[in-house]
Amino acid sequence: MKTLMLNENDIEQAARIIKNGGLVAMPTETVYGLAANALDGKAVAKIFKAKGRPMDNPLIVHISDISQIYSLVSEFPEKAKILADKFWAGPLTIILPKSKIIPDEVSAGLDTVAVRFPSNEIARKLISLSMPLAAPSANLSGSPSPTNARHVRDDMNGRIDAIIDGGECEVGVESTVITLATDIPRLLRPGGITVEQLREAIGEVIIDDAVLNPLKSGERAASPGMKYKHYAPKAHIILLEGSDEDFIRYVNEHKVDGTAALCYDEDVEKLEVPNIPIGHADDYEMQSHKLFSSLRNADEQGFKTVYAHCPKTDGMGLAVYNRIIRAAGFEVIEI
Ligand code: TXA
Ligand code: MG
Repeated sequence: MKTLMLNENDIEQAARIIKNGGLVAMPTETVYGLAANALDGKAVAKIFKAKGRPMDNPLIVHISDISQIYSLVSEFPEKAKILADKFWAGPLTIILPKSKIIPDEVSAGLDTVAVRFPSNEIARKLISLSMPLAAPSANLSGSPSPTNARHVRDDMNGRIDAIIDGGECEVGVESTVITLATDIPRLLRPGGITVEQLREAIGEVIIDDAVLNPLKSGERAASPGMKYKHYAPKAHIILLEGSDEDFIRYVNEHKVDGTAALCYDEDVEKLEVPNIPIGHADDYEMQSHKLFSSLRNADEQGFKTVYAHCPKTDGMGLAVYNRIIRAAGFEVIEI
């Protein structure tokens, strides 16, 4: 299949492709999404095929107007209203009990559905001109999420109908995912809306174990996506946990060909190995913005081993940590 390259002037054409059951990659403020008509099970099934995604991993349904949520969910509780009011449009996904119109392909057999209202103008226009869209990140399953149209093309050329180029994504990591289908709200994936912000809005929020730890064998994932090795570039990523000085010392002591550091801007002048800086130590927004393109960049430069400086876990640092530890397959060296 030939993959059309579209831009912001071609959204009507993209909407026609969606209405005909096709797949279109669209920009959002978090990462690029691979969209299909959320109410058409056959169209949604094509997403899994194009990505090589396991069928038991459910998709997020994207809306462009709050009124659309009422047909998608069977309950819209007070806490969901508060979150929607405060954080939509924006990088927050809310899981609620699903309505009957959600195809099994979207919810992967669960009785819940994840809903998100993106702020990106192109995504919103595409949804308004078509319908609610099921859209996972537009990468091949397991590789880092795409934050520009070139990343999407590298993974998806020939596998999908079209890609809308909307430039670089602002946030750079996927949306925060919270479930309100449990007694106490539970954070399943950290992102651009922090757990501190969520707690301020609705009170208690539990951080699911899978946010920071690997699933123990036999354990059931609250969010099926947490089961899989994620965001993994080809390079072997190792997270170094210790002081800032220890990071520099350890990496410099381990300089061999093919080794690089994924580091903070402050580290660059002290490092004796090739390095990919992702922002200042306390600039979590910049780190989120650059993380996935830096992981792809490590592969483009052919690095074999990449030592990552361990991020802190307050605020949006939790989102960065969650992605790096998965990219590292939970391999951590205490230095
Ligand atoms: O920012 C984002 O959320 C991006 C853009 C494109 O909107 N989308 C995205 O989708 O990251 P995806 O499919 O790559 O990640 C969705 C995550 C997966 O871990 C999935 O298991 C989880 O959300 N999820 C979706 N529906 C769920 C449900 N009903 N219950 C529990 N987890 C769910
Ligand atoms: Mg994904």
